[in-house]
Amino acid sequence: MLMASQAIVELKNVDKRYGENHVVKDLNLAINEGEFLSILGPSGCGKTTTLRMIAGFEQQSSGTILVEGEPVEDKEPFERNVNTVFQSYALFPHMTVFENVAFGLKMKRTARAEIRERVQEALALVQLEGFEKRYPSQLSGGQKQRVAIARAIINQPKVLLLDEPLGALDLKLRKQMQLELKRLQKRLGITFVYVTHDQEEALTMSDRIAVMHEGILDQLDAPSRIYDFPATRFVADFIGESNIFDGLASPQGKNIVVTTEAGRVLGQNSGGFEEGEQVQVSVRPEKLRFDSEAREGFDLEGTVRENIFVGTFIKSILLLSSGQEVVLTSLSGQAVPEEGRSYHLFWEPSDAVILHSRSQEIWSTIANVDLSGFSAEADASADAGSAETGGANAAPASAGAASASAASASATPAAASAPAAAHRQKARA
Ligand SMILES: Nc1ncnc2c1ncn2[C@@H]1O[C@H](COP(=O)(O)OP(=O)(O)O)[C@@H](O)[C@H]1O
Ligand SMILES: [Mg+2]
Repeated sequence: MLMASQAIVELKNVDKRYGENHVVKDLNLAINEGEFLSILGPSGCGKTTTLRMIAGFEQQSSGTILVEGEPVEDKEPFERNVNTVFQSYALFPHMTVFENVAFGLKMKRTARAEIRERVQEALALVQLEGFEKRYPSQLSGGQKQRVAIARAIINQPKVLLLDEPLGALDLKLRKQMQLELKRLQKRLGITFVYVTHDQEEALTMSDRIAVMHEGILDQLDAPSRIYDFPATRFVADFIGESNIFDGLASPQGKNIVVTTEAGRVLGQNSGGFEEGEQVQVSVRPEKLRFDSEAREGFDLEGTVRENIFVGTFIKSILLLSSGQEVVLTSLSGQAVPEEGRSYHLFWEPSDAVILHSRSQEIWSTIANVDLSGFSAEADASADAGSAETGGANAAPASAGAASASAASASATPAAASAPAAAHRQKARA
């Protein structure tokens, strides 16, 4: 309850369509005052559109956006207490650094002495003292980016929106600017909403990450939770590297036995899984372990195809009997499996995340609504199995995309509503 009143920006059931293209789907997101929140997702997933709606450059098709608790539909971008930093910097080429940074204050007819003082302050914050008289063409990429940031913070907005602001910089400078930006955000106490497609960047900088996927919020969590407990297969795949095994679940006390094509494995039973349910087991390469002896509960073997030296660790590619390849990483100094040899593979059950498979999750989402009617119908049909997956495929394109994130139903109930609705319609049809 307290959290809700602290939200400085809130999106409620926000949808955005460009004609037929449904680019943001029922987005619910509350951004807390003073936090560094990243919107992370692949190109085209709707990040920029979301940011532009918050900024007021784009109007949502439906839903509400609140800034400081007030709906902003009727407010122009400059009337919202937010400011945007674009990837392209958008500096005025014919103005000096000083004039670029002072621009907003001049427009507001701020007194000259105050402008001078505040520009100096802003330039000091981004470590550009002494650059006042230079023109943008006389600056490096990183310096231009700093000017753009100084210009955005000089009006002391409550919220700074940043759209891939480091995208044009080379790797080394980007890493340096990431740390600088994070420090600056802490010092200023301004809320940062930071758009990026770079998972490492989001993991390094953010207090929380909103992972988007085809217009849907898959997961909203702290970086460590996003990494350790991905809510969907998409998140598990997109953030870091994951070994994902498909299989059937059998809950047994505190563990779940999962029978995969390559053998039996264990995962922790976090509840909510049924006997015989289709699941996916996600295991990080650094959690995968090997031995010449079998471990209780595991019946998984792999042959080492190759070992690759990657700086501080060694990456081993192993081939399972099912033909699936898995990745195992060992820190230098640790034992490394030998190329060509076969090993028993295992992990701590608590190191594996078990996910509901997509069609199955839609199934149980419907179950919460009207299981009896729908399952009776499905059982009665000639091919119950294909009725289920057929349902997922036959759903409208947007719902098909949505189904991937339906697995996160528990984390983001709203995300699951689209496919569920599509299926309810189908069930009644
Ligand atoms: N002005 C527009 N008109 C039509 N389609 C658009 C417009 N802006 C973005 N889109 C589409 O919306 C989707 C999401 O785009 P965008 O928000 O820019 O993604 P991202 O920033 O995550 O890469 C894309 O399919 C893109 O083509
Ligand atoms: Mg974008």
